[in-house]
Amino acid sequence: MSDRDSWISNLGFVLAAVGGAAGLGNIWRFPWLTAGNGGSAFLIVYLLVVVGIGVPGLLAEFVLGRCGRQTPTAALRSLTGSRWGSWLGAFNVLTTLVILSFYSVVGGWILRYTLVSPVGTYFGQPQQYFGAMSFGLEAVAFHLLFLGIVAAIVFFGISNGIERVSKVMLPGVVIILLGLAVWTATQPGTAAGYAFYLSFDAEYLAANFLSVIGPAAGQALFTLSLGAGVMLTYASYLDDNASLPRDTLVIAVSNTFIGVLAGLVVIPLLFSQGVDPGQGGPGALFVALATAFATLPGGELVATAFFVTVLMAAVTSGISLLETPVATLVDSFGVPRRRATVLVSVLLAATGSGLALTSSVFQFVSGTLADLMLTVGLFAFTVIVGWLLRGDALAEFRAGTARFEWLAKPWLLTVSWVLPVVVLFLLTNTLASLAGISVGLGGRVIIAVIGTVALAVVVRNGSRTDRLSSH
Ligand code: PHE
Repeated sequence: MSDRDSWISNLGFVLAAVGGAAGLGNIWRFPWLTAGNGGSAFLIVYLLVVVGIGVPGLLAEFVLGRCGRQTPTAALRSLTGSRWGSWLGAFNVLTTLVILSFYSVVGGWILRYTLVSPVGTYFGQPQQYFGAMSFGLEAVAFHLLFLGIVAAIVFFGISNGIERVSKVMLPGVVIILLGLAVWTATQPGTAAGYAFYLSFDAEYLAANFLSVIGPAAGQALFTLSLGAGVMLTYASYLDDNASLPRDTLVIAVSNTFIGVLAGLVVIPLLFSQGVDPGQGGPGALFVALATAFATLPGGELVATAFFVTVLMAAVTSGISLLETPVATLVDSFGVPRRRATVLVSVLLAATGSGLALTSSVFQFVSGTLADLMLTVGLFAFTVIVGWLLRGDALAEFRAGTARFEWLAKPWLLTVSWVLPVVVLFLLTNTLASLAGISVGLGGRVIIAVIGTVALAVVVRNGSRTDRLSSH
């Protein structure tokens, strides 16, 4: 394993991880979910989930990565000492493939909008333009182009490809977004948008909590890239000097900052044009925002700056998603990196093309399925860290830092008990609504608590039996 690639610097890792986290989730998915779920109410719940679940969960995934020093299948196999670890790793790899399949279709749309924005091709009829290009053969072509760009970077590996590109693109994203947020504030008619986004509406939240919590939590996991084994893979290239708690905080805060900043651009602009952002769904960014750009002075320039930013953010996330399956082929099957990149890309070219041709499947995969897979992945991570690794996880937490020592035990307690209960609650939520069964808040809480306790007993007993039989 000594010839395994690694990050040149800890800063490189942090930038690549923030780049991987900050992507279409922050700029495309976040504003329309926020707008469709009550604005500030959604924002509050989302922020609470990021802090309460996202941060400890991300740290758990980093701990698994650096402790295992391998990609998900091999790492989880050796950390759990059991076959189901490999299966879980394989599930992670499948999750990245599923996400990248639709991600790269949206990346294709962004690429196309970036190319035509300087001449404002879609300014005349934004709705028709989006409708005509979003699904079909042209969408396939742009999906392939986007995938090609992502593959070209992963082809060159961690230090030469991913780290180098992230170091340039991520600061670019932040600088342009800041500029756009300031510019937005100078536009007329944006006050209603700021109010909708930033003023806390307790009544709405109380009345809609159950319908807001699902999408808000799903979005929190999605935006932090949590539960897919992507962060696990990135952390597997770290050395012992890195402080995992510090890096986790920096990454979570930066990613949230980029999401909130994107909302400060998108939501007020939509309101300034009198567009109801909640109606747009996945097309909101393209249709409603395009309408806004078309009517603004210098719209072409602003539109270009905006789509270049989204493109860069999408590319840095796309590479994190592709790296996981590619590195798995490299680590576990000894396939050379370049060949592995080509193989996985060919597979994704096919699956993504399928989604680019069928909008109904695309909707399901990019919403419910993605959220569900990430939630299951995170649940498994919490079980492994909280109930199997325990002392080893604490040691990994402490390696490379003394500063956050006092947080180590509370963190492990959160990962062992709070996270599984909340994550099971979310799973019950999603599954119940998928199956069309109505379970009340109390019922869901009871299922989550009983499920967690039952699983804790099974896992602890299982690992005790394993230990006894290995003596
Ligand atoms: N976090 C990325 C985004 O916000 C998407 C992603 C999800 C990437 C899961 C990797 C794993 O765009």
